[in-house]
Amino acid sequence: MTEAVFAETIAKDQRVEPRDWMPDGYRKTMIRQIAQHAHSEIIGMQPEGEWITRAPSLRRKAILLAKVQDEAGHGLYLYSAAETLGADRGDLTRRLIEGRQKYSSIFNYPTLSFADVGVIGWLVDGAAICNQVPLCRSSFGPYARAMIRICKEESFHQRQGYELLMTMMGGTQAQRDMVQDAVNRWWWPSLMMFGPPDDQSPNSAQSMAWKIKRHTNDELRQRYVDMSVPQAEALGVTLPDPDLSWNDERGHWDFGAIDWSELQRVISGDGPCNALRIENRRRADSDGAWVREAAAAHAARHQEVAAP
Ligand SMILES: [Fe+2]
Ligand SMILES: [Fe+2]
Repeated sequence: MTEAVFAETIAKDQRVEPRDWMPDGYRKTMIRQIAQHAHSEIIGMQPEGEWITRAPSLRRKAILLAKVQDEAGHGLYLYSAAETLGADRGDLTRRLIEGRQKYSSIFNYPTLSFADVGVIGWLVDGAAICNQVPLCRSSFGPYARAMIRICKEESFHQRQGYELLMTMMGGTQAQRDMVQDAVNRWWWPSLMMFGPPDDQSPNSAQSMAWKIKRHTNDELRQRYVDMSVPQAEALGVTLPDPDLSWNDERGHWDFGAIDWSELQRVISGDGPCNALRIENRRRADSDGAWVREAAAAHAARHQEVAAP
């Protein structure tokens, strides 16, 4: 009976809500996906956060602060969405800092100049939007609703990145070189953000059937390339791929082979900044422990006073 209701909800493209019956596998997959997404938002604050104290103007500092703070907000909505499924936020954080749960590999690369802030906004937030817009129709209600607001903010992030790059491209040769260098470093990792190719993505079919996932990794990657090429042209930068060419027959841009061994290496912990990212997150967690304890004690005391 309950299983039939679940199947009908999915078939009719309606939302599954936290109190509804759902298969264990669906619940587990959703918790894992939402937790990984939440972790990515929180860890994703680090690469750009490093530039807040070094922003070239007060205006750029204010914009960057707001952006990094948005990412913290995204993490919080998402941990809350995971909690509606019975997950515990403290437990999810422990899994992250003990390396038992993943976050997006893209955040294991270093930010070497202020141009990286612009390129992350343009390419990394741009890839996040491609991935996340279809998730606004995810079958799990709280996740889908969180994603609507997150996508609006991501689109602001992308535009601020692009605007920063436009400004730098109109500056000195040294500034243009900084932008090109950052594009060279971030282009391939951002293509990897869509995950392994479809024929090597074992969980995709089940996630598509449950309508947790709406498009395959390769479809989304192609959409991203098609969107980014004209943007790179308008900006005046070269994407570091000699095989990039318009394919009239397919109506899409062809692109070169992705080095999947690099993704494998970074996912398995051997990227340039993996250890640093986790070390920082661990320290933030232990430094913040007294705040959580104080807040819990305060809440308990309030309850005591309020009780008759
Ligand atoms: Fe975000
Ligand atoms: Fe963002």
